[in-house]
Amino acid sequence: NKGKYEHYMQKEIHEQPESLTTTMRGRLKRGGSTKAKTVLLGGLKDHIKSIRRSRRIVFIGCGTSYNAALAARPIIEELSGVPVTMEIASDLVDRQGPIYREDTAVFVSQSGETADTLLALEYALENGALCVGITNTVGSAIARNTHCGIHINAGCEIGVASTKAYTSQIVVMAMLALAIGDDAISSQARREAIIDGLFDLPNKVREVLKLDQEMKELAKLLIAEQSLLVFGRGYNFATALEGALKVKEVSLMHSEGMLAGEMKHGPLALVDENLPIIVIATRDACFSKQQSVIQQLHARKGRLIVVCSKGDAAAVCPGGSSSCRVIEVPQVEDCLQPVVNIIPLQVCI
Ligand code: M6R
Repeated sequence: NKGKYEHYMQKEIHEQPESLTTTMRGRLKRGGSTKAKTVLLGGLKDHIKSIRRSRRIVFIGCGTSYNAALAARPIIEELSGVPVTMEIASDLVDRQGPIYREDTAVFVSQSGETADTLLALEYALENGALCVGITNTVGSAIARNTHCGIHINAGCEIGVASTKAYTSQIVVMAMLALAIGDDAISSQARREAIIDGLFDLPNKVREVLKLDQEMKELAKLLIAEQSLLVFGRGYNFATALEGALKVKEVSLMHSEGMLAGEMKHGPLALVDENLPIIVIATRDACFSKQQSVIQQLHARKGRLIVVCSKGDAAAVCPGGSSSCRVIEVPQVEDCLQPVVNIIPLQVCI
């Protein structure tokens, strides 16, 4: 039942603090006699060593599930040291792209039943890869046919536009990164900071959901537009792709998510005083590069909406509120920031 909400998507967006809590329940340990902070992923415990030893991790999915894997890619690379490549399921099958016995192929799918992803799974199994499923549906075809896996436990997603599954998928893959990297002393402090960040994440999501009204007002300003660009990079390239996908699917407006590093290689030609552009510029290692992107867009009189960390309005918008609109979100660990950053874009569609 939709309760006080107008539709299921809205309900699912607002239940994310709870769905994220369920996703993490029983899997993160903090304290105890050893005071150790650890992650326990029951469905993977017999395979984690093989994953660690694999030559490559290949993420395979479609749409939002692909975007979630893209958001998690950097932290998996950082904590595992294993190269990570990305495959859109249909494209992998079209190309009959290389998949080897030494690969770990990770299939990400909310439903666990997407035909393209299933065909890619069949293909990876034939090629001898270790196949891992990340799904929200117990007993689904992907859950049944992979060698091992993790359920995201986000609760049933009824809205066609995937929202709470996206954030839970990112959290599960962050936990996967922690589990694979669990044996490295050198990254222990980093892993513990991420675990602390995970415990606090539902509260931060609750905080950012309060932007609901502000985002609805922004949506009213954008509704008559023809097109919207979204620029992100690093952890938040995925936020740009996913934000634009939601705008297309739900608001039926043309929208493109773009890698900010590619802006000067073509897309800059589109920038003028009419086209609205969202720039994701929260604090992380890419922040100063995003500041410089914002300056270049300003120089072209771009109509900017900047998503930044709390307190950073002046740092991202030197000309003040007359030159751009700012949406401030709570800062979290860099690899978890995509979970927070997608929320304003979900609530404004
Ligand atoms: O069930 P899946 O995650 O495998 O579905 C894949 C895509 O069709 C899906 O994520 C789609 O892009 C979203 N519903 C868009 O909101």
